[in-house]
Amino acid sequence: MAELSASILAADLLNLEREISLAVKSGIKWVHLDVMDGHFVPNLTMGIPFGIAIRRKFNVDIESHMMVDNPDKYLDKYCSFSKIVTIHYEAPVQTIRVLREIESRGSMPGLSINPKTQVSRIEGLLPYTKYVLVMTVEPGFSGQSMIEEAADKISLLKEYRERMGMNFLIGVDGGIKKDNITRIHSLGPDIIVSASAIFSGNIEENVKSLKNCMKEDQDGQRDC
Ligand code: DX5
Ligand code: ZN
Repeated sequence: MAELSASILAADLLNLEREISLAVKSGIKWVHLDVMDGHFVPNLTMGIPFGIAIRRKFNVDIESHMMVDNPDKYLDKYCSFSKIVTIHYEAPVQTIRVLREIESRGSMPGLSINPKTQVSRIEGLLPYTKYVLVMTVEPGFSGQSMIEEAADKISLLKEYRERMGMNFLIGVDGGIKKDNITRIHSLGPDIIVSASAIFSGNIEENVKSLKNCMKEDQDGQRDC
């Protein structure tokens, strides 16, 4: 089964410790940190101090999703607490150089593609990448509806991975909820990111039912 990664973008920031505790208690092992600079995307969010504080307190793996123009700035800091540091194909940087720098600092280099970016565009970058994050919403905000066709890239990436004999992980991020997670999971990603479907309402119940909806067998008891 894929890992469910909790994006704290939709968490109650004034109760962050409590909210992450509840998620961890429900079996969450990955925290997704959405880093936005107000320029690459039209929103400004969290960064280094959040990552450090979370890593210090919780036994979770952190994936830092860098939605910024300069993901190579402060890489030492991000790599110090992140198992994965994901940069965007669309960011105006020398992608291969930054992916290599992430790897040389001991984190897994991740590459994310926006909904409109085709997989063929990143083919040449895959040898430098240990994680490909497929965006199924335009990056910037949580709580948006999924762009369904974008998820088809998961199957395509699996084909590339097999054909090229590679072993990068595949993640999917944006608009994933109880009513579409069964289909998304059946496409075979390794990591499924969710913010609003975890952090609105009862966190423990949300995690439990999302995980339940990821299972293949329909038991008729679920409202997926
Ligand atoms: C969007 C972020 C996502 C977002 C997902 O720019 O990269 O990680 O938090 O939020 P939901 O799950 O609410 O669509
Ligand atoms: Zn994200």
